[in-house]
Amino acid sequence: MKQAFLFLVLSLLMGSFVVLMLATIQAETEETQQNISENTKTPFTEGCNKCHGDEDAYKEWTQAGHSHALVNLLEGPYEVKTSCLSCHSSGYETFAEYGIPGHPYNEKTAVNAVACSSCHSHTSKEEHLLVLPAKKLCVTCHKMDCGCAGAGIVHQSQTEMFLGREGAGVRRMPSPHVRAMKKRCVHCHMAEVEPSTDGQPIEEKHGGHTFKADFSTCSSAGCHDTADNDMTKKLPLYRAEIEAKMKEVKAVLDNAKDKTSQSYIDAKLNYDMVKGDSGYGLHNVPYARALLEHSLSLKSEIK
Ligand code: HEC
Ligand code: HEC
Ligand code: HEC
Ligand code: HEC
Ligand code: HEC
Repeated sequence: MKQAFLFLVLSLLMGSFVVLMLATIQAETEETQQNISENTKTPFTEGCNKCHGDEDAYKEWTQAGHSHALVNLLEGPYEVKTSCLSCHSSGYETFAEYGIPGHPYNEKTAVNAVACSSCHSHTSKEEHLLVLPAKKLCVTCHKMDCGCAGAGIVHQSQTEMFLGREGAGVRRMPSPHVRAMKKRCVHCHMAEVEPSTDGQPIEEKHGGHTFKADFSTCSSAGCHDTADNDMTKKLPLYRAEIEAKMKEVKAVLDNAKDKTSQSYIDAKLNYDMVKGDSGYGLHNVPYARALLEHSLSLKSEIK
């Protein structure tokens, strides 16, 4: 008798649990559906601008690359796959996860560029409501390996160069800035506005949500501001050195008849990495030098 009663209570409990679960899923689905229908009305679909539209972050964002990422993808010369949207558009995760019937998420329906929610969420516990700590954020998208093999694209190599890895025949060699800069990419690319002497923000402020880095960061932190460590003098020298080495490697690659040998592939990978990094290995000059020197050491094996 007692057992039967217990069984009844248990099954009732289980039953209501299942009903509750279903109701939650239903509610979530409705909410998502509502979000989706709201989110397809305007080009800037996230609604962050309703409250943040007057802030510098929003205005800066509209001026630079991230806000054009979707258009550039769709109008670019490559075959576009839905997976490209994981880095070129916001909302991929949410939409792809729920996969609501009637709301396919693909290159025809996507409306967001790399927008606020690619990097922020009001439900996040991180500083500035970032979806990932600053040091981990940029490298999720800015990497050579975009998982889009076959599309014929070599994506830029800032992450691999900065962290000094993935090259052929060279040991790991992180840029000294990896240690010196807690926020890594953000440190240079979103450098903070420095007030001028009269307390007003200086006109040519750099970074922020345009994500543009410039070389004034080098001296502003008191790092490269001594005569023997002056980057304005050193950078042109680095540049000349790396460009000369690149030319040498390119000549070797151009003259090769067998483009399938491992030596050719390794030499070309290293060359592409340096080239893909803003031209001359800027994000890690010692690593760029080592990569190119390894390529040159393979010269006799490349036929
Ligand atoms: C590519 C990533 C990225 C995108 C896109 C982005 N942010 Fe940010 N945002 C950041 C990072 C990183 C910080 C923290 C900077 C720091 O720690 O110095 C930040 C800081 C902020 C801050 C606080 C500090 C400040 O600069 O005012 C606000 C507000 C903000 N973002 C709003 C926005 C809004 C609104 C959008 C959309 C228009 C947006 N962000 C898009 C990465 C991003
Ligand atoms: C209904 C108004 C509203 C909407 C919509 C809204 N926010 Fe906010 N947000 C706020 C308020 C209020 C704060 C807290 C005050 C502050 O720091 O500006 C805040 C804070 C933030 C911060 C922290 C700023 C800092 O200094 O660290 C970020 C980042 C942010 N919101 C991003 C977003 C993003 C991304 C969206 C869109 C997905 C969004 N917000 C949508 C009102 C809003
Ligand atoms: C969701 C993926 C994603 C994240 C996260 C991301 N980026 Fe980007 N970023 C892109 C894409 C895609 C482009 C190419 C935009 C285009 O079409 O020009 C880009 C372009 C850029 C550019 C060139 C801008 C220009 O005006 O041409 C810089 C610099 C940059 N990102 C820096 C950063 C930094 C720093 C971070 C971290 C705070 C970051 N990005 C995080 C995807 C991302
Ligand atoms: C892992 C993230 C990621 C994926 C996946 C990805 N991209 Fe990108 N893409 C980026 C970033 C970051 C940039 C900006 C820096 C650069 O050029 O590498 C970019 C830049 C580009 C550009 C140059 C934009 C310009 O300013 O002209 C094109 C074109 C492009 N991607 C096409 C594609 C295509 C096509 C796919 C899918 C087959 C794809 N990408 C998948 C991250 C990604
Ligand atoms: C030590 C400072 C510094 C750090 C750290 C840094 N960058 Fe840069 N980055 C620069 C400078 C300076 C440029 C060149 C800007 C120019 O040529 O005007 C640049 C160029 C770029 C470009 C090309 C921009 C364009 O307009 O084509 C991208 C993309 C980029 N960086 C992404 C990153 C990413 C991702 C990280 C982190 C893995 C990173 N950077 C770390 C200073 C830095």
